[in-house]
Amino acid sequence: MKPIQLVASGWDVGPLQGQLDAHPELWDEHRQRTTIYEGPHGDVSDVWCRYNDFGNFTGDMAAFNEPHASVWYPSITKIPAAWSLARKVQRFAKAEKLGGVLLTRIRPGGQVKPHIDSGWHASHYRKFCVSIKADHNQAFCFDDCELRTVDGDVFEFRNDVTHWVPNQSARERISLIVCVR
Ligand SMILES: [Fe+2]
Repeated sequence: MKPIQLVASGWDVGPLQGQLDAHPELWDEHRQRTTIYEGPHGDVSDVWCRYNDFGNFTGDMAAFNEPHASVWYPSITKIPAAWSLARKVQRFAKAEKLGGVLLTRIRPGGQVKPHIDSGWHASHYRKFCVSIKADHNQAFCFDDCELRTVDGDVFEFRNDVTHWVPNQSARERISLIVCVR
């Protein structure tokens, strides 16, 4: 079975694009994830929408990733369209549980280098991604396949095998990652 597959297209991501344009301050409030990729820090920015309550963070990222119940972060009040899209993914997947929800952005010409995501959260949940901004000069890559998406595409992917994401386009690449079970 392929580690990545397109499962839907044409979802309306315009409202979330507009809300993100209106709130540039949301990016990089939390750098604990983006700084693990060892690339130039400017390549990747995050908005944490839902995860382990940040009040539980003691400075130890591995401990923070241990089993927990996800909660919404304050950011979601400024980008309610991310809430709607995450719930739409949950309904689509017929999932009982909604785990982490993350917006991640790769600058034009930037990349996420090859890596494997480990830890409880990565292995506990199925991972879906809604492409908020994407064009055909970016790709989600594995050793034996890749997927190129456009705005409004939805795909399911594995992150327990090596993957990397080059954005060789002139446009920022923004993804909404939704974890369900
Ligand atoms: Fe990853």
